[in-house]
Amino acid sequence: MPHSSRCLPARVAMLLKLYIVRIISEQVLLACGDELSAAYGVPSIRLNNGVMMPIMAFGANLWSPDVCKQATIDALQAGFRNIWSSEIVGTGCQSAQANAMKEASHIVSRENLFLAGTVDTASCSSEQQCYTQTKSQAEMQFKVLGQQTLDMLMLDYPPRSGGCAAIQGQWKAFEEIYAAERVRSIAVSNFDVKHLECILGVKGAIVPAANQVLFSVTQGGESLVKENAQHSINLQAYTPLGGTPPGRASLANHPVLKKIGKNHQKTAAQVALRWIVQQNATVCVASSKMQHLQENNDIFETFRLSEAEMAELNAVGRNRESREL
Ligand SMILES: NC(=O)c1ccc[n+]([C@@H]2O[C@H](COP(=O)([O-])OP(=O)(O)OC[C@H]3O[C@@H](n4cnc5c(N)ncnc54)[C@H](OP(=O)(O)O)[C@@H]3O)[C@@H](O)[C@H]2O)c1
Repeated sequence: MPHSSRCLPARVAMLLKLYIVRIISEQVLLACGDELSAAYGVPSIRLNNGVMMPIMAFGANLWSPDVCKQATIDALQAGFRNIWSSEIVGTGCQSAQANAMKEASHIVSRENLFLAGTVDTASCSSEQQCYTQTKSQAEMQFKVLGQQTLDMLMLDYPPRSGGCAAIQGQWKAFEEIYAAERVRSIAVSNFDVKHLECILGVKGAIVPAANQVLFSVTQGGESLVKENAQHSINLQAYTPLGGTPPGRASLANHPVLKKIGKNHQKTAAQVALRWIVQQNATVCVASSKMQHLQENNDIFETFRLSEAEMAELNAVGRNRESREL
């Protein structure tokens, strides 16, 4: 066989090499449970409708508009590409966040950001009332955030009364907004299995892309991620560090998390966040301090908790739950 027919042309060989390198690096990322999204350039997951969502979301708290604005700019500077803007923090804070994103467009443009808004219609109590209120509050979110479209709209809380019919009214409003292509994904928050079944029991219903719930090393219970994953719903953890003191036990000072952090030159807060993402869940974390924002985003690359460390952290949660029973 002549030599030339056995060798690949240089260009083909180079393309093949690049392709193999890409496959290998993608596999390495996937093996770590993180998929690097081309759109956002940060570790992201694929939602059940194919839309990519950055794993780490920055959430505001009940801060003044000035703090909301500065913290949002700082979060973008620190590399957050998922901004979770909640109706609960008030229109002053949400508008300030919208201004922050405009002002910080030199850091990241809107199309390279994943932006979520929320609707809280927990006080509605019938199918029609829940449908109407959810529709009009969703309109307010587009207005307050100054957006034609959002990457995610989240239904924060099922109605306190009205049963499945009330939930179905809320969800019908969301499905219509999704069908009109005004949002790229629709999600829920604080929905337990019973609430989810009210949605999933309707033939042809759109399955929520995510369920944002209270979930941390010490709160929420180990089975939550699995229960949601069974329906291909991503669990997004809120209050992942245990919340804001006083009155809340911040995980940032927990002795077991501090000890595990030392093994990796990481802080207890980073251990708390890594424990969540290593279960293929995503995170919504709040901070108004640049140092904390940078720290909270620095839990990928080579940082991985061992199986023994994950088990030790699970035991911290179990011990706490059994003490509270
Ligand atoms: N869907 C819902 O029903 C629901 C319910 C509750 C909360 N949420 C949302 O979830 C998000 C996060 O929840 P959260 O604020 O309750 O709890 P969290 O994120 O667990 O805790 C926030 C607290 O942790 C501190 N912190 C952040 N990073 C830190 C670090 N690296 N080291 C030490 N301390 C750190 C913050 O203080 P600094 O500012 O000093 O960093 C703040 O006091 C918020 O946007 C909140 O609105 C949603």
